[in-house]
Amino acid sequence: MLAALFAFLHHVAAFTLAAAVAAEFLLVRDEITLKSARRLLTADLIIGLAAMVLLVVGVLRVLYFEKGPEYYAQSLTFIAKISLFVAVALLSIIPTREFVSWRNALRQRQVPIVPADKMRRIRNVIHWELIGIVAIILCAALMAKGIG
Ligand code: HEM
Repeated sequence: MLAALFAFLHHVAAFTLAAAVAAEFLLVRDEITLKSARRLLTADLIIGLAAMVLLVVGVLRVLYFEKGPEYYAQSLTFIAKISLFVAVALLSIIPTREFVSWRNALRQRQVPIVPADKMRRIRNVIHWELIGIVAIILCAALMAKGIG
């Protein structure tokens, strides 16, 4: 029963993370407004919380609820999945730092002013995050089936 509960939590967090990154991707495609800037900060907070849940629940599943740490330590697809998770987490620092720097402007009800090249870079980073998440889901399916 606990194993099913943790699998459920893992899936909910994974879907939440993917949805919030996709929402960010759509929001940064258009011109930034007060409303979209606030939504980006909220989406970024959700991404951070979902990533933390994924990590904590994922580690507990590895240690106690699935095939055991020895199995995952030998799985190349598990190692690839964790490496991708770390890569996406590091990438996500770039948009997070930008969105957090908007807080003061937003408090004063001002639209943040972002140079076009910076916005393009943020868009690219979020695009790569989405690609990374798809690759993580592929690795998750492969490792669960004992491939690699
Ligand atoms: C963005 C991050 C992540 C996503 C999107 C994700 C997604 C998934 C999905 C979809 C599955 C189900 C695979 C299947 O049954 O076919 C799964 C399983 C699993 N994940 Fe994750 N995961 C993420 C991060 C992590 C992390 C950080 C860990 C561990 C530290 C982890 C550990 C596990 C374990 C142990 C399973 C069970 C595999 C099995 O049935 O043998 N995951 N994950």
